[in-house]
Amino acid sequence: MIWLATIFSGTIAARMNTVRPTPPPLRSGAMQTAVITGAGRGLGKATALRLARDGYLVVALDLDVDAAEATADATGGVAHQCDVTDPTALLEVASRIERCDALVNNAGIWRFQPLLEMAAADTDAVLAVNVAGIVNTCQAFVPKMIDGGGGSIVNLSSGAAWTHSPGIGIYPASKAAVEALTKQMAIEWGPHGVRANAVGPGLIVTEGTEANYQGERRIERAKPIPLGRVGEPADIADVIAFLCSDDARYVSGQVIYVDGGVTAGRASL
Ligand SMILES: NC(=O)c1ccc[n+]([C@@H]2O[C@H](COP(=O)([O-])OP(=O)(O)OC[C@H]3O[C@@H](n4cnc5c(N)ncnc54)[C@H](O)[C@@H]3O)[C@@H](O)[C@H]2O)c1
Repeated sequence: MIWLATIFSGTIAARMNTVRPTPPPLRSGAMQTAVITGAGRGLGKATALRLARDGYLVVALDLDVDAAEATADATGGVAHQCDVTDPTALLEVASRIERCDALVNNAGIWRFQPLLEMAAADTDAVLAVNVAGIVNTCQAFVPKMIDGGGGSIVNLSSGAAWTHSPGIGIYPASKAAVEALTKQMAIEWGPHGVRANAVGPGLIVTEGTEANYQGERRIERAKPIPLGRVGEPADIADVIAFLCSDDARYVSGQVIYVDGGVTAGRASL
């Protein structure tokens, strides 16, 4: 599985944006509200667009306020600059919304290095965003979900949680932790009507990964995939939308891999 090791060479530079005035409190009325972290681009933005089409009022959170605002403009929702490693900022956003029916913990980062060369700061950063960031976000928004009688949480895992490759550092362990957290959430919050599931994307072309899919590389990447193509953000967003919907009302504590069949095995050597 060495091909997986080089797949995410893109890194996220924390973009420092001008601080904008805080949007006014969100009055959602009867409209269902979906909170999405990392909603400024990639899978988070695709999910925001899909959930808006499904009738949700979207609350787009991202480090990058310009990107979050573009998502809010495209969905008719609201944007907040928010770092999932900052519990105070998350609580502030939660205090400004009336309800939370769907929570998509999508923000995630990767720092690909061989384990022996992993810098401690990179290990800390990946665990802080991918694991503790989800706990922080749930602590801010799940009480609101429980107050409203229940809701749906979808956490972003990865096929890399179990299809290990050399050189991808702490990332697979962080995503395995996401899956463990998902089951714990399902058990702790199920009695309050809250469902928790995870989606594990395979090789999906986003702003964060597109450098790996230029020209012939896209064709090479697709060869081992049983369905014969790399994924698009909408492939993931549609499954997240299903898990948020009432069609998934009896689904909780599960992980769905959306990867064109990769976790079943390789279509070619
Ligand atoms: N793209 C893939 O192939 C793939 C595969 C498996 C899993 N995933 C997972 O899906 C999720 C989204 O991936 P993507 O490819 O869309 O990523 P991306 O890099 O394109 O977008 C991530 C977004 O999250 C935001 N973000 C990063 N750190 C944040 C923080 N601390 N607080 C708030 N926002 C933050 C970024 O600003 C960015 O807008 C991640 O959790 C990733 O691990 C992606």
